Amino acid sequence: MRKSSRGGTALDRARPLDHQKAHEIQAFGHLIRRPIALPERAARQSVENLNQALADTITLRDLYKKHHWQLAGPTFYLLHLLFDKHYEEQNELVDALAERIQSLGGVTLAMAADVAETTIIPRPPRGREEVPVQISRLLHAHEIVLKEARTMARQAAESGDDGTNDLLVSDVIRTNEKQVWFVSEHLVDVPLVRAD
Ligand SMILES: [Fe+2]
Repeated sequence: MRKSSRGGTALDRARPLDHQKAHEIQAFGHLIRRPIALPERAARQSVENLNQALADTITLRDLYKKHHWQLAGPTFYLLHLLFDKHYEEQNELVDALAERIQSLGGVTLAMAADVAETTIIPRPPRGREEVPVQISRLLHAHEIVLKEARTMARQAAESGDDGTNDLLVSDVIRTNEKQVWFVSEHLVDVPLVRAD
């Protein structure tokens, strides 16, 4: 067989170099400096906060999908669609938070096991629950995210990290507040057909 210029046969060059292993290039929790005119202390604090917000947002996102699948009752179709819409919006927040962490020179949390160890949202049971319980769980999770996002946004503003402050206020806080409105109205006990 013909030899290639880099040694081995020409066919060897077409072979995928799979099963490769090496050390990590950046350990979780370590920061690299990027030329973004932000003090390292501010970037470090934001990365830590954003990873907590990321873990909780991934958990809230997945809670929406769980409830989208496991729904029961006469509001099935309505809530099936609404929960999926909120899932998609939370998914966008997940990506925005993760990409902000990388922009600041940090390392994102990513995998389910790491998220489960980090989130402060209570773990739901595997089984199905009634709609009012599903909604109560969602509202509690939203409130956890909103409370931490407000604190983190203030810290980012104080440390001069305007980009993180803007992401938390304009995207995380506003999106979560609006979703709370839409979801919480389903727990208002008004008559469906005949007024009281
Ligand atoms: Fe679906």
